Amino acid sequence: MKSILVTIALGASLMVSAQQKTPAYLDVTKPIEERVENALSLMTTEEKVALCHAQSKFSSKGVPRLGIPEVWTDDGPHGIREEVFWDEWDGAHWTNDSCTAFPALTCLAATFNPHLSLLYGKSIGEEARYRNKTVLLGPGVNIYRTPLNGRNFEYMGEDPYLSSRMVVPYIQGVQSIGVAACVKHFALNNQEEWRGHINVNVSDRALYEIYLPAFKAAVQEGKAWSIMGSYNQFRGEHCCHNDLLLNKILKQDWKFDGVVISDWGGTHNTDQAVKNDLDIEMGTYTNGLTTQGKFSYSSYYLADSFLKGIKDGKYDMALLNDKARRILRLVFRTTMSENRPFGRFVSPEHSEAGRKIAEEGIVLLKNDKQFFPLTGKYNKIAIIGENATRSLVIGGGSSSLKVSYEVSPLAGLTAAYGKDHVVYSMGYASGPSMYGREMKSKLNADSLVAAAVEVAKNADVVLFIGGLNKNHFQDCEGGDRKSLDLPFGQDKLIDALVKANKNTAVVLLSGNAVAMPWVDKVPAIMQGWYLGSEAGNALANVISGKVNPSGKLPFSFPKKLEDNAAHSFGKLSYPGDSINELYKEDILVGYRWFDTKNIASLFPFGYGLSYTSFAYSKPTADKAEVTQDGTIKVSFTLTNNGKVDGAETAQLYVSKPKSTVTRASKELKAFQKVFLKAGESQTVTMEVLVSSFAFYDEAQHGWNVEKGAYQLLVGCSSRDIKGKIDVKVQ
Ligand code: BGC
Repeated sequence: MKSILVTIALGASLMVSAQQKTPAYLDVTKPIEERVENALSLMTTEEKVALCHAQSKFSSKGVPRLGIPEVWTDDGPHGIREEVFWDEWDGAHWTNDSCTAFPALTCLAATFNPHLSLLYGKSIGEEARYRNKTVLLGPGVNIYRTPLNGRNFEYMGEDPYLSSRMVVPYIQGVQSIGVAACVKHFALNNQEEWRGHINVNVSDRALYEIYLPAFKAAVQEGKAWSIMGSYNQFRGEHCCHNDLLLNKILKQDWKFDGVVISDWGGTHNTDQAVKNDLDIEMGTYTNGLTTQGKFSYSSYYLADSFLKGIKDGKYDMALLNDKARRILRLVFRTTMSENRPFGRFVSPEHSEAGRKIAEEGIVLLKNDKQFFPLTGKYNKIAIIGENATRSLVIGGGSSSLKVSYEVSPLAGLTAAYGKDHVVYSMGYASGPSMYGREMKSKLNADSLVAAAVEVAKNADVVLFIGGLNKNHFQDCEGGDRKSLDLPFGQDKLIDALVKANKNTAVVLLSGNAVAMPWVDKVPAIMQGWYLGSEAGNALANVISGKVNPSGKLPFSFPKKLEDNAAHSFGKLSYPGDSINELYKEDILVGYRWFDTKNIASLFPFGYGLSYTSFAYSKPTADKAEVTQDGTIKVSFTLTNNGKVDGAETAQLYVSKPKSTVTRASKELKAFQKVFLKAGESQTVTMEVLVSSFAFYDEAQHGWNVEKGAYQLLVGCSSRDIKGKIDVKVQ
């Protein structure tokens, strides 16, 4: 009996001492900062340095001795990329990693619906979590500066305010699942041409007013837990270790407490990486991204040479501690957090979310005589064009996806109209999608056109489904487009189709604007983006009228390339002289340029039609005079005066006709998407902060709200203003 009691007492005391020994970093109830400090105090210098660079293509080390997990990143931003081999870009042939593809971010931006952005973030966050990822490499918010940029489809358009409003809920959604968003590419990575070295020069004004706001919103409002440096240089320093961008703006001014992750192969220098606030170095010189062949992880700039620098006293331990602290914080926020949900993968809810976003992002550009919706009175619908059947989730570079399914436009339309009423002909061919090189199709272009024309002649209606694709020199990482024109002979094909059948409408799937020399010849045009797994269902629902289109363009479509601001200043402005580039258009990017210079675009920013129509009443403001720190409420009545239910995105722009500096003729300051039943009216009120009227004053290094007369413009696009209000700022 006595011995039993002794044993029990011994057991209890062992338990107590075991409990007492549980270190704070493992105690999920303790504040994160306490856990971080505790973990840091237990780590060796070697362990801290090991956190700061890759151990494989997509992961970096944890602290195995302490049970602190590795950091696993994955692309992003439209779905969770397949597993790759340890040190290669090639897929590892797992059979459990086929994901849901969500629509491209240009489509999300075109919804002008922040609720859908939250849904997007949560859904993709759940997929990332299920796949045990710590960091999702996205979203992207580089500004749409030129329609040639091969990666525009991964971003949210040309307007800093729209991108800001849309990026914040995406991040909140992802991170609510315990996965870190990694906002990319910080900053000024606005082209793929020479992206690895081009030195971007841009004024402070354009930097703060155009290129930084979405990143700032991502950090300060979205509270992003990580950010990715970009490949290019800015004012002579690579952006992955750029003193001004990372030390001063991101960490000092914006108080970013997360992790700066390099783009893959974007690190070039130990000294700058150590001192200029890069935290995790990824992708340096391993086989795949560069031609340098194998390069061991210990040779990374933030590996052995960093460790040596610390040991020799060249680098202060505080620099290493700061990096380690940030990385530990990210781990405690994600994999080691108390309430991390379990996620789910390829669930029906994710398909539905993807379809809804796709449906709301599709933009109706032209619709003469109510060509759309096709309400089923046709006997034969000819579908022409490679994009009706081609996979558009594969290719494009790092955002390429292995999907569990993808409904093609042809499949979606066939399901909607019945196989007896749908006939298909390819019309043109582009060749396979290869990263970094182009391989032309071997099919005979003339025969493809001839066959398509025959099919078109015998149909009641023709839907041409073309656009760009994810091939090199199209919408693809690693290269820019060569021109604004539609590729693969599509302009000629469209002409031939229109001649064969005047009931030919065009559906474009792309992440970029294209020239449309045939714009006046076709009755209807739809901009469909890259729509992900549910592409065909979403398109069919809009085309058949089940869903009323409500997307608006997140960037301007120029009539010709030279009309675009970046391209009107010659080569130094785009793509640069191969070493330097100067953003000569300054703050006049996108519609700011078109509207200020009075250049007509083909389709303006914020534009998109509906199957119904909307009437705006005269807007009023709650005050005529306001102080610099005040707010103004603008109200008007919006009426759906057509025959079907629908949604309209009302937009509020501000204009400062007389200013001490160059101002854009208008800038977006608020928008609201309103759903209205046929015949329904609603009072819409939009509130704006007067501080948002400020320009960035280079002389004062700060924001300056000029006093004086402003105009508030309510419109349904940047070029269709329905009402104006004069206000005075005192
Ligand atoms: C891209 C990043 C991507 C990374 C990892 C880079 O080439 O620029 O956007 O996240 O690769 O795939």
